[in-house]
Amino acid sequence: MPFIIAIDGPAASGKGTIARALAAELGFHHLDTGLLYRATGAKGGDPVAAARGLTAADLARDDLRSAAAGQAASRIAAIPEVRAALVAFQHCFAAQDPGAVLDGRDIGTVIYPGAEVKLYVTASDAVRAARRAAELGADPDQMLAELRERDLRDSQRDVAPLRPAEDAVVLDTSTLSIEEAVARALAEVRRVRAG
Ligand code: CDP
Ligand code: CDP
Repeated sequence: MPFIIAIDGPAASGKGTIARALAAELGFHHLDTGLLYRATGAKGGDPVAAARGLTAADLARDDLRSAAAGQAASRIAAIPEVRAALVAFQHCFAAQDPGAVLDGRDIGTVIYPGAEVKLYVTASDAVRAARRAAELGADPDQMLAELRERDLRDSQRDVAPLRPAEDAVVLDTSTLSIEEAVARALAEVRRVRAG
């Protein structure tokens, strides 16, 4: 059975960076599940049909990282049929040996409630906005408003809302460098593997 690492958290908390680093260190596969929602939203038209017909080319679009694509993703992500259409892809991906790291919003709560390792990565609103603003070359105040709007929508939706799984280890990266955050995540993986 592949070893599953579930990493959830709000926007720009650093979960993708940690997920990529863990996968590289452990030789695991990595899936950024946010990309599935971003690609679905970016296709336009009927979001349920878009999710069902998602292709590799849709996932390779170079406009998926924008704030607008994030907002579109968050709107279609509240539709139960959209989420259902993306479950099989995530399960197939994660079935690869020796293991997989998936990052998103509902990996530890819905997609893999039995994941061996569950991390909930977070950081203060101001730190997250500053990080994302630096990445996109955007205004931090505008970014703060955008992230808050998206986090609120993601936390308040009925289906698979953003929240830590009861058994998730919470990792606040507000004052951590990337190296420190990755080291803590890796320590948790090693603790579980040793046990
Ligand atoms: O995947 P998620 O949206 O949660 O965040 P990310 O794309 O991994 O990280 C957002 C930005 O914060 C990236 O530019 C990272 O380099 C930076 N960052 C970080 O991830 N962790 C830190 N401890 C410090 C900065
Ligand atoms: O990198 P960042 O955290 O800003 O966003 P993302 O992980 O690419 O996710 C974009 C949007 O997709 C989120 O705001 C959620 O609405 C949605 N999403 C979700 O509902 N479930 C997931 N497992 C991943 C993303």
